[in-house]
Amino acid sequence: MKDNLFAKQGVKVNELFKNERVLYPEFIPERLPFRDVQIDELVFAFKPLTEGRKARNVFVFGNTGTGKTATVKYVLKELQEYSDRPKALVLNCFEKNSRHSVLVELANFLGNAVPERGLSTAEVHAEVLQSLKNCGFLPIVVLDEFDQLLNNGGEDLLYDLLRAPEQGLKTIPVILISNNQDLLAMLDARVKSSLQAVSLKFDQYSPVQLKEILKQRAEFAFREGTLEKEVINVASAHASKLGGDARIAIESLLNAGRIAERENSAKVSLAHLKKAFETIELSTGRKKLSTLSEDEKSLLKIISKNPGGIDSGELFLQFSKTGSKVSDRRFREIVSLLEKNKVISAQQATKGKGKTRIFRLGVKKESLKL
Ligand SMILES: Nc1ncnc2c1ncn2[C@@H]1O[C@H](COP(=O)(O)OP(=O)(O)OP(=O)(O)O)[C@@H](O)[C@H]1O
Ligand SMILES: [Mg+2]
Repeated sequence: MKDNLFAKQGVKVNELFKNERVLYPEFIPERLPFRDVQIDELVFAFKPLTEGRKARNVFVFGNTGTGKTATVKYVLKELQEYSDRPKALVLNCFEKNSRHSVLVELANFLGNAVPERGLSTAEVHAEVLQSLKNCGFLPIVVLDEFDQLLNNGGEDLLYDLLRAPEQGLKTIPVILISNNQDLLAMLDARVKSSLQAVSLKFDQYSPVQLKEILKQRAEFAFREGTLEKEVINVASAHASKLGGDARIAIESLLNAGRIAERENSAKVSLAHLKKAFETIELSTGRKKLSTLSEDEKSLLKIISKNPGGIDSGELFLQFSKTGSKVSDRRFREIVSLLEKNKVISAQQATKGKGKTRIFRLGVKKESLKL
């Protein structure tokens, strides 16, 4: 009988890794070195909840890969282990990118099954308030990547959450997470003053810090002696060059390990790591530019013609004129994805009485081949 395909490849698998899951992006480590100050601040903000008092709202900001999401999740996990009353709902606003969809999630979280479609936003909001009355625990809402919500009902949403106590309901403390430190300043004065958030900055990691982070993660991930001497140093130097991003550092180690494993190598070498860098450049934060859709291309063309930046309204207007028949919602999705992949960058700005976002290319124009 013929050998099964998977049996053939399976012979040597898992000789290098002790536990490769430790290097997965969603893994929350038991220790987060260099984040003691931020952890203490978060504990201080949420400790009151365990004593029947009000928690503080928190605004977390810093560059990508500085441990914002991991630290917040880690502290909330500890909080929920310490006390069984608080329960956190962590939402990524790239996925839940409207007031409506966040309220639907919140209603469901509070024990009130609400469908994603079919109810108006006002109705879902009413459901949330109703379920808050009957809710037996203390809800906390984390809105990660909050910028994605800002021009899509984010302020109204915050208002919904912050005003619950005025109706005799529980306070819902919120943690807002963003790459943009000016985000708080962009909020409507009313919202800002009811939010009264503590700001918490996450600095970029230095090369030395990245090295230590990698060393600790590698200890749990790889069997002893499987990493060649310079691998950690070079991986942290590389991630440091790319903005002190721990995610890149960790991912390059994971990919290097997998490449080494595939080659049946007994060790992870610098050559494996270099190959891993290439795969990362193509994936994390840097979408493969050759696979852009027509809509993405025409959007990028408009942005590239405005090196000084183009605001969201104008971009949509010009984009509609190209004959693209995309909805406002689809437009926002395309923009979000390009932004997440760092093909474009966005900056908050004021326009008249309102707010807007200014877009620029995040990559060299020549690399786009539009
Ligand atoms: N101090 C640390 N110790 C160990 N691992 C860390 C530390 N900081 C970050 N990491 C790891 O680096 C990766 C990126 O961290 P995280 O997702 O929290 O970054 P972020 O600041 O939320 O980035 P983004 O703005 O892109 O969402 C995760 O795998 C996380 O576990
Ligand atoms: Mg994050």
